[in-house]
Amino acid sequence: LIPLDTGDKEFDMLMGLYDTAKKDIVDKLNIIQEYLNDSYEYEVVNHITSRIKSKESIIGKMKKKEYDMTYNDLIEKVNDIAGIRVICTFKSDIYKVRKIIAQIPNIRILKEKDYVKNPKKSGYMGYHVILEDFIKYDDTYIPIKVEIQIRSLAMDFWATTEHKIKYKKKHELSKKDSRKMKIYAKILNILDENIMNIYEKQLEGKRKL
Ligand code: GTP
Ligand code: MG
Repeated sequence: LIPLDTGDKEFDMLMGLYDTAKKDIVDKLNIIQEYLNDSYEYEVVNHITSRIKSKESIIGKMKKKEYDMTYNDLIEKVNDIAGIRVICTFKSDIYKVRKIIAQIPNIRILKEKDYVKNPKKSGYMGYHVILEDFIKYDDTYIPIKVEIQIRSLAMDFWATTEHKIKYKKKHELSKKDSRKMKIYAKILNILDENIMNIYEKQLEGKRKL
């Protein structure tokens, strides 16, 4: 068990591998975005963002979750060092993206969480995929974890604003406010579905012309 030292060059090298994996998967997702948007003639994928978790957040998370401060626990348990968000227009688009991600060659899907069908207690919705990408290092390929969160625009609006509110209030919402946020998540979900229905009717009409 090697103790974690975010100041040493091994740590930076490891972060470099996560960055390579992140970029590789983003490249592939950009191609998927182009393919889907061309096929469906609208923005199935609205936009893609990505980030590498900062040293501070990595340490904060490991402390909070009471992991050992070792490279072993970092690699085995922190799944979101390389994080990507694929923001779709509507809820139903999420599954179009999910289906194609599963077909990317030379990756291994480790875990999937469907918070679209089963929203979290907070009201949070999104579809999460944790995968391993194989990155060349010396003469071998090593597996590097990447987390992809697939959300609709409405889900992303809810999650990013909820995160900001929580952050400002030091990660806590009052009972009343969290109850409100849960209701708003449900309302946004209804808007997501209803606007999608209008949109699809419109597209069908256009195809018949
Ligand atoms: P962490 O939350 O990352 O520690 O991992 P976990 O094992 O609990 O996984 P989960 O799939 O529940 O959450 C992973 C990520 O989803 C989080 O880091 C957030 O980015 C997002 N997420 C999950 N729940 C919420 C929520 O209630 N609000 C917001 N804004 N984001 C959430
Ligand atoms: Mg996270």
